[in-house]
Amino acid sequence: MVRIMPVDRLSDEDVREILTRYRKVALVGASPKPERDASDVMRYLLEHGYEVYPVNPRYGEVLGRKCYSSLLDIPDDVEIVDLFVRPEFTVEYVEQAIEKGARVVWFQFNTYNREAFKRAKEAGLVVVAHRCMKKEHERLVSY
Ligand code: COA
Repeated sequence: MVRIMPVDRLSDEDVREILTRYRKVALVGASPKPERDASDVMRYLLEHGYEVYPVNPRYGEVLGRKCYSSLLDIPDDVEIVDLFVRPEFTVEYVEQAIEKGARVVWFQFNTYNREAFKRAKEAGLVVVAHRCMKKEHERLVSY
């Protein structure tokens, strides 16, 4: 049976609005390793003026920014939660995103989890899925 991947049904205009309206990003699964896409995307977002809060219990600091174990430890509002963790870890972070009052949950490639997606939607968050924040920014904002 062919499984149809759910899509976020957002238009280019919607995604552009998300990328320009919100500036505070928690990047979950942050890594100092240059070979990790999370590292490349975090660097890009910092270069483009976003406030980025790395989240990964393994590290105290990533790319010179204090790294947090939980979204709830971040001493600032968080608007976008950008997920770079395996699908099984996304549910707990979506719960934290809801508690933290985030506006958007962004599932990068290979992070999609049906339960997490559904939970975020039900809580009224905007959900972006199967897209890359960097790629979408390049395509829609900084072209
Ligand atoms: N919370 C926070 N971070 C966690 C975590 C958790 N519960 N569990 C693991 N991590 C971190 C790890 O520390 C690791 O970083 P490290 O190597 O610096 O230690 C990182 O997440 C990835 O760990 P792992 O689970 O081994 O990942 P993987 O190799 O199986 O890859 C993804 C899974 C989701 C990270 C990977 O597919 C990915 O990067 N997807 C996004 C791709 C993308 O959108 N790229 C942009 C294209 S433009």
